[in-house]
Amino acid sequence: MSSLPFFHPIQDDLQRVEDLLQEPVPDQHPAITGAVELLLGSGGKRLRPALVFLSAHLCGADPDVALFAAAGVEMLHTATLVHDDLIDGSLMRRGAETLNARWSPAATVLTGDYLFARAAYLVACTENVRLVRRFAETLMVICNGEIRQMFDERGKVPTFQEYERRIYAKTASLIALSAESGAILAHTNEAAIAAMRTYGARLGLAFQIVDDVLDFVADEWTLGKPVGSDLRQGLVTLPVMLFLEQNGDHPVLQRILTHGSSEPMVQEAVQVIVASPAIERSLQVARNYIQEAKEALQLFPSSEYKAALLDLADFIVQRQF
Ligand code: IPE
Ligand code: IPE
Ligand code: MG
Ligand code: MG
Repeated sequence: MSSLPFFHPIQDDLQRVEDLLQEPVPDQHPAITGAVELLLGSGGKRLRPALVFLSAHLCGADPDVALFAAAGVEMLHTATLVHDDLIDGSLMRRGAETLNARWSPAATVLTGDYLFARAAYLVACTENVRLVRRFAETLMVICNGEIRQMFDERGKVPTFQEYERRIYAKTASLIALSAESGAILAHTNEAAIAAMRTYGARLGLAFQIVDDVLDFVADEWTLGKPVGSDLRQGLVTLPVMLFLEQNGDHPVLQRILTHGSSEPMVQEAVQVIVASPAIERSLQVARNYIQEAKEALQLFPSSEYKAALLDLADFIVQRQF
């Protein structure tokens, strides 16, 4: 995965992140050590640490300090996945069994909490109070968004604004923080920090739309996690919203939204949505965000890091995993 071409200028930095993430903590319970090995050893694109480093190099931050921010955001991301899979009842992640597939909810929650604490520790090692504050704020946004999503009625069709607010909270907020981190650590000007943040936020919105599309069109093995799961849980995402715009009275969709779903109904709904223009229209919305992300970088002069950030943006809407 780290062979993605835009990771090339930061290959060594990313290797140092791997080492730091896996570094043993004295007196850590073997169950936690095993969980960290499982979660981090089974893959993951490392998109968020890559953003920290590309932003750090672009803006002139010390890579030795950026290392802690990069490991911190990846650890925070991993902790949110542990809790998310428990909440969603998902049994596979990054091609491996989830913790909740093996352990009790109590042990899973506690391991997630440990990872959150470890993430906070790593970010604190930057000794940058502004970054620590942004980190804490972002975690509040993520949890608040997850709670809102959880308490929303199942099968409720959101407006586009509600959908955007949801995907900003759950995904784009952390990707924005990752992109902003390098600029904050570089103590660069506010316009550059804001531009990196906008780049990350737009990238993150596109990223979650593509995740929502992949939940319909991807191959489970390539994706490394179950597909069709959003609809199965009654979570209405952009492909469903756009499908309903043109087929509001579709009987199977209506039944799923009002009465919950059986597996054959989910399969049928996935098939009709995949065959409809809703998938391409969703990807077009994601491409528009990617365009805005790239435009936010205009104020930076050309460099290999800027070129990598532009390529990374294009990758987001082409990815299959
Ligand atoms: C998965 O994120 C969760 C979402 C925010 C959609 P990634 O797709 O970045 O997961 P990994 O880290 O590559 O496994
Ligand atoms: C996960 O969103 C977002 C967070 C971890 C906060 P999803 O529920 O869409 O992610 P996947 O599809 O399980 O990776
Ligand atoms: Mg999930
Ligand atoms: Mg998903």
